[in-house]
Amino acid sequence: MSTRALITSALPYITGDIHIGHLVEHVQTNVYVRFRRMIGDEIAYLCADDVHGTGTMITARKQGVSEADLIARLGKAHVEDLAAFDVVFDRYGSTDVAANREVVYGIWRNLRAAGHVAEREVTQLFDPEAGCFLADRFVKGTCPVCGATDQYGDSCDRCSATYAPTDLKDARSTLTGAIPELRTAKHYFVKLEELRPVIEAWVDGQGHLHPDTARWVRNTFLVAGQPLREWDVSRPAPYFGFEIPDAPGNYFYVWLDAPCGYLATAIDWCAANGSDLATWWPRQDQPGSTQAQPETAQPGTAQPEIHHFIGKDIVYFHTLFWPATLHAGGWRLPSRVHVHGFLTVNGEKMSKSKGTFVNARTYLDAGLDPAHLRYFLASKLNGTADDFDLSLAEFEAKVNSDVVGKVVNLASRTARFVPTLVAAYPDDGGLFAAGAQAGADIARDYAATDFASAIRRIMALADRANEYVERAAPWALKKDPARAAELAQVCTVALNLFRQLAVYLAPVLPRLADQAGQLLGAPITRWDDAQRPVTGNPIGPFGRLTDRVDPAKLAKMIELSLPKEAPAPAAPAAAAPASTPAAAPAEPVAATIAYDDFAKIDLRVARIVTAEEVPKAKKILKLTCDLGSLGQRTIFAGIKAGYPEPAKLANRLIVVCANLAPRQMSFGLSEGMALAAGGTQPQELFLLAPDAGAQPGQRVM
Ligand code: MSP
Ligand code: ZN
Repeated sequence: MSTRALITSALPYITGDIHIGHLVEHVQTNVYVRFRRMIGDEIAYLCADDVHGTGTMITARKQGVSEADLIARLGKAHVEDLAAFDVVFDRYGSTDVAANREVVYGIWRNLRAAGHVAEREVTQLFDPEAGCFLADRFVKGTCPVCGATDQYGDSCDRCSATYAPTDLKDARSTLTGAIPELRTAKHYFVKLEELRPVIEAWVDGQGHLHPDTARWVRNTFLVAGQPLREWDVSRPAPYFGFEIPDAPGNYFYVWLDAPCGYLATAIDWCAANGSDLATWWPRQDQPGSTQAQPETAQPGTAQPEIHHFIGKDIVYFHTLFWPATLHAGGWRLPSRVHVHGFLTVNGEKMSKSKGTFVNARTYLDAGLDPAHLRYFLASKLNGTADDFDLSLAEFEAKVNSDVVGKVVNLASRTARFVPTLVAAYPDDGGLFAAGAQAGADIARDYAATDFASAIRRIMALADRANEYVERAAPWALKKDPARAAELAQVCTVALNLFRQLAVYLAPVLPRLADQAGQLLGAPITRWDDAQRPVTGNPIGPFGRLTDRVDPAKLAKMIELSLPKEAPAPAAPAAAAPASTPAAAPAEPVAATIAYDDFAKIDLRVARIVTAEEVPKAKKILKLTCDLGSLGQRTIFAGIKAGYPEPAKLANRLIVVCANLAPRQMSFGLSEGMALAAGGTQPQELFLLAPDAGAQPGQRVM
């Protein structure tokens, strides 16, 4: 019996490009969708852009276009970027559509009728120049707790304090730079506490959340004796959104209508292809009641399932507001909300200034293979909400070793030796059968969204297959015409093991699966395709399946992601023109040296343990450096002009010359030299830094 499931990713904000953080989620959802389709389930795979709110209004205004035009243009870019990563939806909609307005109005009517709505005055920051109220993210100023400048209106990056935007010091509107004023307006609130039984029953319900997430939601938001705060769901005009029908001049807050976009996209998709909505997203029986619903659909039942994939930053909206909203509207609640963690790059939060805030398009422009990112992300996604890291060094090593070295290599070492597969599958010592048997475990991993485990199992099979090829050595058999029959058998085994792996990897690497299907003349479409070997078929032409990761392209990707202009100086000086660094002065290259001369210089990675000022020395900092196996060294470096706050250097990795003769200085013995680039101005000093992952003591060549 096939099951129906409606599956979504969180709706990206229209105002930003798709970046590699989004791809975590879209790859996760897409792998799950592809797997479910392979096991024969009927899937509606839906997403949309989240388009309402002040941001869209302001962007459209700045560009002098209508909101509709902006949405159409940016929405198209989102769809194209995702498609380039083989993420293709049954429908990709927008939250600004008629169906969504209907859904939101229906929910609102019921909330009102049930008495769940309260009205109250709210005082908010208002930008007098832009003529609109300012969301927290549109106010910047000085943290009231630690004094850090250039902080957002809701929380401080430096000390993590959270506060109201009205507490911020020296607040400025990020829209116009104007000093915001306080203004009061009427807002509408949903009395969430009245819907608490519904929310709690859903959070505690069987399989709706990963147990860790359910526990976290319970302990963080559903604390006993602590009533749920009323939810402010309205914004006064001007606002880009749906106007509240019984409160003209007020609009629904974007987070009320955004998740409704899941439902609206389902409605539009059903209408477009003649499907019955009730068979995909049924209504529940008791709209408006505060009683918990009896059951939501579970995998394996005849009921359609509803799955959302989201990041951990928006759990609150999806586990409290969304079940409450759906219940109020009389709609079935989700079967499962899958929560993933956040992606870091080289061990740190994605950062524009470090070039690690990488857009999907930039990854492609650098010439990197989308399949490689799919593979890497899938190998990290384990169904928990833990954060995980894209270390570029690990990315390169893992893709090269697994995809190229273990999988593609099986085919490239055997596909060109013989024209056809033998007619009867040869004795392979039970390898294919063992691989077929592993299918059930791998399927269980995919179904549980533990793709990391699935991939470990698949790579273990790949190791067995490669051992077989090593032993059988087809390249040696090829040289001996008397052993042609044996060669054909070995190639038949190797290519079938390759195809079996390609079936298991198909949810992650759909293009590889297509190519493997073509090579053996047996298309891969179903999970069961891994159960029977292919025999007798002619072997198709062997094209390039994928290349090794080129580190130069990774470097290019980072370079393309760096800000185009020098970042503007911090807050108060923001009005001054951004300074661009002067081009480096021409300096003739030094006389050529032989390699042996170069090799005499022993450069090492070092970690700065402490960096301190030296009394009376104007230009010198005292660096205590850890050189790993070489121990600690003291280095006096003339870099003070470039690093006025030496304490900030602690923990940084630098490069030092370790075999320079020690030099006695008036303040102490210097036991090496730190490498730095310098410009024409004294403060233009830039310490060299190895990429993250380098270890103190490593030799630099
Ligand atoms: N528009 C809201 C979602 C509305 S859903 C009804 C939103 N948009 S977003 O564009 O900011 O984020 C979309 C998804 O991408 C979210 O699930 C978010 O968690 C995820 N990610 C954004 N950056 C991410 C990482 N660095 N790592 C992993 N996922 C990240 O939130
Ligand atoms: Zn602070």
